[in-house]
Amino acid sequence: MRASSLILQLTAAALGARRVVAHSLATAVCLCALGWAVAQAPPAQVGPGREPITPIPPAPVQDPRRLALGDRLFHDPRLSHDNTLSCNSCHDLATNGAEASRPKSKAGSGPDLNTPTVFNAALSFRLNWEGDVRTLEGHVEQTLRSPRRLGSSLDEALQKLRADKDIAKAFREAYGREMDGVGILAAVATYERSLLTPGSRFDLWLEGDANAMTPKELDGYRLFKSLGCISCHQGVNIGGNMYQRHGVFHPLGSPKPEIVRVPSLRNVAVTPPYFHDGSAATLFDAVKTMGHAQLDRMLTDDQTEAIVAFLKTLTGTYRGKPLVRANEPRPSGAPP
Ligand code: HEC
Ligand code: HEC
Repeated sequence: MRASSLILQLTAAALGARRVVAHSLATAVCLCALGWAVAQAPPAQVGPGREPITPIPPAPVQDPRRLALGDRLFHDPRLSHDNTLSCNSCHDLATNGAEASRPKSKAGSGPDLNTPTVFNAALSFRLNWEGDVRTLEGHVEQTLRSPRRLGSSLDEALQKLRADKDIAKAFREAYGREMDGVGILAAVATYERSLLTPGSRFDLWLEGDANAMTPKELDGYRLFKSLGCISCHQGVNIGGNMYQRHGVFHPLGSPKPEIVRVPSLRNVAVTPPYFHDGSAATLFDAVKTMGHAQLDRMLTDDQTEAIVAFLKTLTGTYRGKPLVRANEPRPSGAPP
């Protein structure tokens, strides 16, 4: 009975996707994959390896000296032109890896994009809202250069860091050569690959712990599949593996950019606001808008709440502690 219900869900997801196909070539590719799975290999049961989402893996084992150097650089304001901003200023690792207190990044002028979390970014197939960068190293280089981010350059950062004997020594020990730009980019990227958040309740459920989720949360997950959310939000990051138009049926936020990389829904409960322009303040709003804009469905409040309950099980842990929202008081009552 469980097997047949999964097939129904996959078929429903495929049907959901089929309605979108008319509007999007990218979905057609994804639909083929789902269609094939249904036609060729009906899954025998629901469970590990049978779901369209896989758990976040543990962080890869890496050279601790390179990791430590990357950690220092991630927190080093000398990476910015005026020595005021580090990566961590906009991607606060003590909370959610996204912006601490502002809905959008502050550097530069005019509207900018909502800051995505750096947690699990290493698992997405492209980086940034538009998915315009392929590698973490290339992304660090872009971030150094961008006037809206660090407003500096790799050369400028290198010059400042070379003058610091202590960090030059740490570099030599980590890479066995004098400090260079390639190594700076590599060290930050190495550190970013360690910023994974395994251990969410949903992942525990995927790994076989049937009690890790409540019936309401599981209802939400079933809806997520049967409505067709899964046709775009799937894989290890529940997103981050394809491009899509936003506002397929009805407009969603500001029209530009038209095509975006589908965002990951990992840790989504602790990373408000939502969408590329930060136009949805709550998860409830974001889910309702998604149903309408991407699937032409008016979700009921009950459906929306069940999906939100499911999305709340996607909050993982970093260094053993669950991620929290920016400015959220710590459970201990300590100041944030
Ligand atoms: C002034 C704020 C700011 C600073 C400083 C900053 N970022 Fe970002 N970061 C952003 C914004 C905004 C985006 C989205 C950019 C886009 O979509 O084009 C982003 C995107 C990213 C992404 C892509 C996430 C994804 O889901 O694709 C990663 C990874 C990242 N930043 C890492 C870093 C690192 C590493 C540094 C330091 C070298 C850094 N950021 C510095 C604001 C910032
Ligand atoms: C056709 C593909 C598609 C479908 C179907 C779809 N989404 Fe999305 N989803 C997107 C895209 C693209 C974005 C980014 C929109 C933007 O920012 O402009 C997004 C964004 C989101 C966000 C905000 C994420 C963030 O960090 O800002 C949530 C939450 C979300 N989707 C949930 C859902 C749910 C729940 C469903 C089903 C009811 C769904 N999506 C169906 C493509 C899709």
